[in-house]
Amino acid sequence: MAREAQWIDIGAEEELKKTPLQHITAKNAALAVSFKDGEFGAVSNACNHVGGPLGEGRIDDAGYIQCPWHGWKFHRCTGLGEPGFEEDRVPSFPLKLEKGRVLVDIANPTKRNKKPHAPHPLARDPVRAPGPLRLAGISTTVMDTGNPRFSGSDHLLDHALDAARKLGAETRLIKLNELKFRACEGYFSKSLRACTWPCSITQMDAKDEMDRVYEALVHWADAIIVATPIRWGAASSLYFKMVERLNCVQVDVSTKEKQLIGNKVAGFIVVGGQDNIQAVAGSMLSFFAELGFLFPKFPYIAHSRGWSHEDMENNVRIVRESKALAQGAAALAARCLDLAGKLVAAAEVPTLIERGGLKGRPVMADIMDRD
Ligand code: FES
Repeated sequence: MAREAQWIDIGAEEELKKTPLQHITAKNAALAVSFKDGEFGAVSNACNHVGGPLGEGRIDDAGYIQCPWHGWKFHRCTGLGEPGFEEDRVPSFPLKLEKGRVLVDIANPTKRNKKPHAPHPLARDPVRAPGPLRLAGISTTVMDTGNPRFSGSDHLLDHALDAARKLGAETRLIKLNELKFRACEGYFSKSLRACTWPCSITQMDAKDEMDRVYEALVHWADAIIVATPIRWGAASSLYFKMVERLNCVQVDVSTKEKQLIGNKVAGFIVVGGQDNIQAVAGSMLSFFAELGFLFPKFPYIAHSRGWSHEDMENNVRIVRESKALAQGAAALAARCLDLAGKLVAAAEVPTLIERGGLKGRPVMADIMDRD
């Protein structure tokens, strides 16, 4: 039964017409107010998915508001979900025009109804499938595939994967250079809830190929080896592009007490024309530790001839011909698989660790609670 109307004046008609879609608070109701094709609309500002601000989205040609966080759509006047998802609706509010003013009845919205959307395939629980140990190699070097060059980091990664196969492991090589994936667009900076697992971009853009990396890291592999060249003292640009997109895996650790990465091992290969191996390896170790990976003893191998050597032909020749580096890569794979095998055999699920000192875990709050 309809309640007594509570009409709230939300502004002048002429003024509100100037903005196609905006967030307006009317008393305690957060609204997404729109104007299109001569008609006003008012629906709840909170998206059904994880509460994205619909008033900050866009209106498509058919009159649906597209949520700015992950792209779900709701009609700007009726609040109904897009075709096929009509039952998934956000509240819409009665609206009228009076003496040049726009009024919304905040007491009589339609009911919100959430219809489950099919979860993204990556959203399944990460449960290890039976079978031999699995090692994923991630190549991060950038090159022109039409005119390929020798890559020292790729070369050693190949040795590592070869060795893993000889030890009976399954392997998968992912070359970031061959994937088409968007750079992180900073959903985390909009809101903690906007950076979701699976990644917002992955959920919205079926063509984005970062899902290959997520699938391998979160679901498939028992161990990974990430290989990078050093570019001006840092890992490659593609490495960082991948790392930024892995924020959605880390966010689950720090905000939801949930660990997507359990019982998995990481190792690294770092090859530099010049210096900075320790800084690059340190940064990689730090990031993958925050994701929840575990490390074998001596978790990385590296090679560089130092600041004074710009003769790249010799650098390349040394990496290509060095038996010691090839053996080092093979031994790294063996160490990673050895630890991964022990973890799989023990089926030891890491327990959640005490809060203080971990990224995103409040410390002052404890003191303030106590006071
Ligand atoms: S919060 Fe709106 S689509 Fe995710």
